[in-house]
Amino acid sequence: MTLGDLVARHQIVISAGSGGVGKTTVAASLALWGALEGRRAVVLTIDPARRLASSLGLASLGSGERDIPAEHFRAQGLAPKGTLAAMMLDQKGAWDALVERHAPPEARDRILTNRFYQHLSQSFAGSYEYMAIEQLCALAESGRYDLIVVDTPPTRHALDFLEAPRRIADFLDRKIIKWFVRPYFSAGWSALRAMNRTAGFLLRRLEQATGIAALAEISDFFSNMSGLFENFQTRIDRAHEILRAPGTAFVLVSSPEEQVLGDAEYLSSKMAALRMPLKGVVLNRVHAEFRPARRGRGRDEIGPEEVEQVADLVAQIVGAPEARELAANFVDYQALARGESLRIEQFRAGLPRGVPVVHVPNFARDVHDLASLAGMHAHLFGVRAAA
Ligand SMILES: Nc1ncnc2c1ncn2[C@@H]1O[C@H](COP(=O)(O)OP(=O)(O)OP(=O)(O)O)[C@@H](O)[C@H]1O
Ligand SMILES: [Mg+2]
Repeated sequence: MTLGDLVARHQIVISAGSGGVGKTTVAASLALWGALEGRRAVVLTIDPARRLASSLGLASLGSGERDIPAEHFRAQGLAPKGTLAAMMLDQKGAWDALVERHAPPEARDRILTNRFYQHLSQSFAGSYEYMAIEQLCALAESGRYDLIVVDTPPTRHALDFLEAPRRIADFLDRKIIKWFVRPYFSAGWSALRAMNRTAGFLLRRLEQATGIAALAEISDFFSNMSGLFENFQTRIDRAHEILRAPGTAFVLVSSPEEQVLGDAEYLSSKMAALRMPLKGVVLNRVHAEFRPARRGRGRDEIGPEEVEQVADLVAQIVGAPEARELAANFVDYQALARGESLRIEQFRAGLPRGVPVVHVPNFARDVHDLASLAGMHAHLFGVRAAA
């Protein structure tokens, strides 16, 4: 199985991994590939820095889906057989949309102006991830796309994304809601604070931010939202179903650094435990080792002495005073690349069998337009894509 087969055979592809490894870039590149191959593709991005918008050559992305215009592809020398839409997840906007969709009309304004709601929708840990999943479900159910690529939030722990439905379910657990809607004066502040870590954390934050009066608002919020929470569980179940569907693939993005690979390993085992199995790996920003072709010899790497010989050769050819530095730089680069190779080998050994692993080099420039996203295809999907 190749990464190309994987994308071809799945409707939903989720790009997960630690912070800053290239999740957003890989997600955009995979969706672009789908569009070039004739799919009706959409990429859902969660990118507060708005890098995807610039990647796709869109100055800004609203919270709705936006089709990338055909002339934009043409200007970059690309001729997609399908279509590509992009969408940026905006946390607050997604919560508001949820309220608009599900809250009873008479309660809507009360909810939207409620200070507790505003706090929850902007900073509740996990709500970003949850909203991404909610949005993914909406895209999947719309039937408009046959390839949905989902980027995941820039959390330090990629696991947050996988656990978001459960976490939100815990938070919205009926029992807890009952606690909230119970007349707040009888429960008492300290009792509320102690009852649940998440709620406790929120309440402490609220206490700092808004003072004790917030309690009344919390109670009011939950009373008004009760209709919304009634069917939350079914939506959470639906989200789990979609994340675990046979047509859904998690692609792990990692860099070859030791700690990042460690995180990736951990994430891979957690995914298996959550029954959201990892189906592909992109190792991004890998430094290539210099491997001279030597016919008739069994190994394809060069040893330290040979590196020194190359360095000497460079020094002789260039002949300039900088030649030594240039050679030393080459030796360092080679050591870096060698270290990465060894770590990657070890990492691969721990992966489930049959999971395709591809390497993307560390490009000299940022990847920020359609042409450079397409430039990744040669590495993601093999030479066939290079044309
Ligand atoms: N192979 C590469 N070579 C060079 N630059 C790259 C490569 N891959 C990604 N980049 C650049 O690295 C930066 C970070 O990439 P990206 O935003 O995709 O990471 P991310 O995992 O989504 O980060 P975050 O966790 O903050 O969301 C971007 O500026 C991107 O253009
Ligand atoms: Mg990102």
